Amino acid sequence: MNILQKQIDNELSNFTLIALESNQNLENNLKSLESRYQLSSGVLQNNFKAEAKEVFHFLNHDKHVVLLGLGKKPGFAEYLKAFRIYVHQNKNKLNGDIAIETMASPENLEWSYKAALNGVLLGGYCIKLYKADKNGCAPFNGDKITKITLQSDAKNDNWNQWIEETRLISETQMSIFDLVNSPSNKKYPQILADWAKNSGNKNGYQVEIFDKDQCEKKGLEALLAVSKGSENPPVFIIAQYLGNPGGPTIGLVGKGVTFDTGGISLKPSANMHMMKSDMGGAAAVLGTIDIAAKMKLNVNLVAIVPSTENTVDGLAIKPGDVIGSYSGKTIEVIDTDAEGRLILADGLSYIVKNFNPQIIIDLATLTGNCIMALGSAAAAMFTLDNEISTSLENLGHTFGEKVWRMPLWDIYKEDMQSDIADIKNLSGKPVAGAITAAKFLEYFTEEHPKWVHLDIAGVAYTDNEFSMNRSGTSWGIRLLFEFLKTQTKK
Ligand code: BES
Ligand code: MN
Ligand code: ZN
Repeated sequence: MNILQKQIDNELSNFTLIALESNQNLENNLKSLESRYQLSSGVLQNNFKAEAKEVFHFLNHDKHVVLLGLGKKPGFAEYLKAFRIYVHQNKNKLNGDIAIETMASPENLEWSYKAALNGVLLGGYCIKLYKADKNGCAPFNGDKITKITLQSDAKNDNWNQWIEETRLISETQMSIFDLVNSPSNKKYPQILADWAKNSGNKNGYQVEIFDKDQCEKKGLEALLAVSKGSENPPVFIIAQYLGNPGGPTIGLVGKGVTFDTGGISLKPSANMHMMKSDMGGAAAVLGTIDIAAKMKLNVNLVAIVPSTENTVDGLAIKPGDVIGSYSGKTIEVIDTDAEGRLILADGLSYIVKNFNPQIIIDLATLTGNCIMALGSAAAAMFTLDNEISTSLENLGHTFGEKVWRMPLWDIYKEDMQSDIADIKNLSGKPVAGAITAAKFLEYFTEEHPKWVHLDIAGVAYTDNEFSMNRSGTSWGIRLLFEFLKTQTKK
């Protein structure tokens, strides 16, 4: 797909998509479009208010011009969504060359065009992974769309860089959509390992995979305990990208449960099919190192993904079992459905002990309780570091992957005490489940001062405009990518 920038001229693209904000510039912006397209004065002003979700279509010399309303004070997420929804809904109509334009004020030029292009590219995503007939799939899979032009009169030397970054992150996000949307018979731990290996080979970073034997040798006992009920062996993925030799390392840990039945503490069946997405944390972490390496970001990353299924078998761990862990601490498994925290315990202790990163961020579809608290509007964030917390809050707000901070007070730890082991994996009280899970994880971080836990249960796999049922969102890749960029400046 050819993507380029051009000044606005008289040559009309087959489709021109123009995004407008509902602000004090709207009138002038519409007037200038009326004169550009030689329309009678007022015809756009009378018919288009630039409200959120408003779409106005007209033909000009047989070419399509589409105005996309953004409402008041739209951010990156609103721009992205407007373009993504339009392209998604008009997949079968769009063809030829497409121009996109934002009439954002000059200081918002960069992010508004990045968001617009990100939206157009994601709008072409085709979810029909396993359909025999992929007809009517994404326009970008065929050759219906020949070219995308970012048209703007703004002078800037960085267009190519913006386009390249956006093209690359969109590719990463769509590859992650596929990974999360894949069902568990096509996606087991080794598939996550293969994805990581493949990305490492392509983008020049190192990926090491511990198979079951190596996990045993290393003493990753909590991961092994969860995997006991599964025919598909676990893997422990360690990916390392060094973009700033000698500089500090940022550690990422992602929950890679490729299917969560609950184990012997079996989940009810009604929504169990959604548990193919219980590797959303792994997906975010793998996607982040992928885009960081592609963009050659000036940071050092180590990404760890403990991956397993949580299934039912005669050998599966049973409620009440006491297991070991990489840290040497013992865990009483009250509920086998609280498996994410078990494998993350090993991921976190491993990263602390072997890499001692300056910052550690873990992402996990960890608790239903997180969804009760925040729905799919934000991830729950737990950290003791106010600076990182503020940074992630602001970035999340700007880029549409919001986080909301929750407490890590020690009072929540009392309920995790076990009589016979060092800690138990379930509080036993039907309250504060996301927080007590975070307190459990904290126990395995060796009091790392810059550890951040993001519970992404509500945001990784959601209802959305782009599929009939819930589907993967690639939540976290944009947030972490932007966060890493802030770390390169230090
Ligand atoms: N993977 C689930 C959490 C989850 C639930 C993610 C719904 C996305 C949607 C996790 O492993 C789990 O089962 N958590 C239990 C913990 C409980 C047993 C303490 C939960 O939240 O119900
Ligand atoms: Mn579970
Ligand atoms: Zn789970």
